[in-house]
Amino acid sequence: MSQMVSPSLLSANFGNLQEDLDMINASAADWLHIDIMDGNFVPNISFGPPVLQYVAKLCSKPLDVHLMVMNPMNYLDAVKALGARVMNIHYEAEIHLHRAIMKIKDEGMMAGVTLNPSTPVVMLKDIIADLDLVLLMSVNPGFGGQKFIPNTVNKVRELRELIDATGSKALIEVDGGVNAETGRLLADAGSDVLVAGNAVFKAPDPQAVISELRAL
Ligand code: DX5
Ligand code: ZN
Repeated sequence: MSQMVSPSLLSANFGNLQEDLDMINASAADWLHIDIMDGNFVPNISFGPPVLQYVAKLCSKPLDVHLMVMNPMNYLDAVKALGARVMNIHYEAEIHLHRAIMKIKDEGMMAGVTLNPSTPVVMLKDIIADLDLVLLMSVNPGFGGQKFIPNTVNKVRELRELIDATGSKALIEVDGGVNAETGRLLADAGSDVLVAGNAVFKAPDPQAVISELRAL
């Protein structure tokens, strides 16, 4: 099994984004993970469209957008304008999940639903066939550099069973505290895509870490 890798921009050097994006472009990374926060759904604020339009211009990898905001569908047009490949919205932030997923797909993007660590996988049972991706949070969302929550490995296993049982094509992506060690456990449990912030950007050789995670 090999993994797709989506390095998380949140851990990049905002004083010199161009340098970090050049590194990503030259790396084996599959996507670039973009965390958008509103200071309401999560207790932090990151970056928004004015910054991201330049990131989109400078980055040659497909964008994997993770919206940590209330009313995420208010940002559908903004995410589409970035040319994003994936739009992830939180289960906990959208009441009309089915309608939202259909709209994201109508706009030509992959539709992802994200679960907080406390939200059970079974909540996706009736929508799993419609999803392109499920993003499991392995930390409480809002900050990079947090410790991996071990129960996520069980959730990956459970989600893999649900996907296989329903014939869903959804990819399993995991976000938070992922490094070579936790990534190994996730890959063995059946993950497809690993998000990594600190493990990549704070490493002496970020490209080597990306390649190492891809080989898991
Ligand atoms: C957390 C974000 C993550 C974060 C991951 O709320 O969704 O994408 O950047 O960072 P690490 O890999 O450092 O835990
Ligand atoms: Zn994220």
